[in-house]
Amino acid sequence: MEKGLLHLHSFLRWVILILLLVALYQAFTKKESIRKSSLWLMIASHVMLLIGLYQLFWGRYGITKGLPENVQLMKDSFYRFFWVEHPLLMVLAIGVITVARGKAKVLNYKTTGWLLLVALLFLLVAIPWPFRAVGSGRTWFPGM
Ligand code: HEM
Repeated sequence: MEKGLLHLHSFLRWVILILLLVALYQAFTKKESIRKSSLWLMIASHVMLLIGLYQLFWGRYGITKGLPENVQLMKDSFYRFFWVEHPLLMVLAIGVITVARGKAKVLNYKTTGWLLLVALLFLLVAIPWPFRAVGSGRTWFPGM
């Protein structure tokens, strides 16, 4: 189950990025359909939050498993990323996506667009891409 959840967490990144780009386009071209895309974006990112919290506490590198011997959290780039930087930036991104959804609902296109741009930036910075040192060994489409 743990592997399945990690693969789902990884796959959902693409769903979220695609929905975010669609919603961004709709925000800047003032399309009413943003109501639907922003709702799906919010649902997908909240599912991501739940899976992420599970991984953070009970996953293979989860907090309940503790730090390996001789590892200091803030001095170890791997654990600092997965215990602090990634969760913090992602929770912020999901918060911004949630606020953006509220703005999209009342068709406040401009504010929605800017909020979604901020969320996109957080996501791009905090994803452990395979080309980043912290993402080494990870793939673009795990499990496929
Ligand atoms: C939209 C938000 C998020 C995105 C796009 C995202 C994306 C990712 C990706 C691509 C991975 C690498 C998976 C792989 O090995 O292929 C990952 C790992 C991880 N994520 Fe997230 N994540 C998000 C939110 C969160 C949140 C909110 C938390 C915690 C509260 C979290 C905790 C973790 C942890 C602990 C791992 C490492 C799991 C492991 O290697 O066993 N993520 N995330």
